[in-house]
Parts: sequence; structure tokens; C-alpha cells
Amino acid sequence: MKIRFSEEEFARLKNLLRIYAWGQQTLLTKLNIMHEDFRHFQDNNPIEHIKGRIKAPESIAQKLHNKGVALTAENAKKHLKDIAGVRIICPFAKDIYQLAELLRSMPDVNILAEKDYVSAPKPSGYRSYHIVMEIPVFYSGKAENVVVEVQLRTEAMNFWSTLEHKARYKYHNHIPQHLCDELVICASKIAELDERMFLIHEIISLINGEGEVPLPRISAHISH
Ligand code: GTP
Ligand code: MG
Repeated sequence: MKIRFSEEEFARLKNLLRIYAWGQQTLLTKLNIMHEDFRHFQDNNPIEHIKGRIKAPESIAQKLHNKGVALTAENAKKHLKDIAGVRIICPFAKDIYQLAELLRSMPDVNILAEKDYVSAPKPSGYRSYHIVMEIPVFYSGKAENVVVEVQLRTEAMNFWSTLEHKARYKYHNHIPQHLCDELVICASKIAELDERMFLIHEIISLINGEGEVPLPRISAHISH
């Protein structure tokens, strides 16, 4: 059976989603300014690209159903922290931490929660840095805080999690064990790749700055 909101609650949800979209737009504007500043005025750019999505009503309904709460707009607001989502793809893992620090220092946002699945990956192999924040939005003559979930990850982490998400969806959250094992192996190879690519980047930076330098051996620096 398809899980759906009643017509009345669906109308309420649509209004609520509009407010979440404003919150997301506000954050995206701030991030895009940051990105332009990095591109044009700074030496390094810790942002590859940024995108946002608003959770679809069907996914909101499914998640509320899984949590065992009634399908209402009020419950969506109360129980879900990822209705508005922003994903920032960074070149390297160290950029994730630089950006997290910048997000923390933004004057008009409030950090509600942070989860570091980069240093401590999930058992599935999932790696990303999550920040749940509140963004003030001014409308109808009042300011309201809108919750947005920010996910920071590298391209390689994104590649892995997109495929794993697809597998989860196909297998209705019950991925067969042999595929789980394979995904865990891929996750660790991807972490190694991120590390190796970063060392190449560091070596290139040394060459740019100093001309001829003795090159460190990458294999001597890899922990895997
Ligand atoms: P939900 O997982 O969304 O119910 O929230 P939570 O409170 O468990 O937060 P968590 O930080 O675990 O996950 C938030 C979001 O991160 C999810 O909605 C996914 O987008 C992403 N995520 C978390 N774990 C995984 C994972 O194992 N695989 C993939 N592909 N994505 C994940
Ligand atoms: Mg989860």
C-alpha cells in the first residue's frame, strides 16, 4: 500500500516545504558567495560544487511512517532534520574540516548537531561530515528558523554513497551480505584513493612553490 498524506495535510506540507526552500535558498546564497570568494580572491578553493534538494513528499511520508508517527506536516517539522538538504563536494577530506569550521563561524546560523563520519565511518562504509543548522528566514513580518542538513564529502565519498544508496533502494534497505562486504571493501579503497590523491596534490603544491624539490614517496605516507 502506498503511504500518503491526507489531502488536508498534504496542503499544509506544501506550504511548509515552501518555507524550507527559502531556508535552503538563504544558505545556498551564503555558500555561493563563499565559493565565488574562494575562486576569485583566495589561493585555495575547498569547494568543488554545491547542490541542494528538498525532500519529496513521498520520502517524507515514508520516513514518518518508519518512525511510527502520524503523517502530518507538524510531525514532519518535528521529527525530520533533512527536509532541506545541502551537499557540498570538496576536493579533499581536509577541505571538509576547513569548511565545517567556516560554517560554524557564520554569524547568523545556529549549529544544532554535527556528525563526523569522515574520521569515524559508519559500519556500512559511509563517509561524510554532517552539520544540522538553523537558518533564520524573514517572512510575513517575522523571523523563523529553518533547519537545513549540510553534508560535506569528497567526490569519491559521493560516488560511493550514491551507489550504496541505489543498492539500498533496490533491495528495500536489505542489501545482500556479499554486496555489503563488497561495498565495505570499496569504501576503504576510496578512502585510500582520497589520501593518495591528496598527497599528489601536496607534492604538486611543493613543486609550484619551490621549483625542484626532492619528492616524497607516496607509499611511505599511506596508512592502509
Ligand atoms: P536518517 O538516516 O536520515 O534517518 O537520519 P539519522 O539521524 O540517522 O542521521 P544520519 O547522520 O545517520 O544520516 C543522515 C543522512 O546521511 C541520510 O539521510 C543519508 O542521506 C546519509 N546517510 C547516512 N548513512 C548513510 C549510509 O550508510 N549510506 C548512504 N548512502 N547514505 C547515508
Ligand atoms: Mg541514519
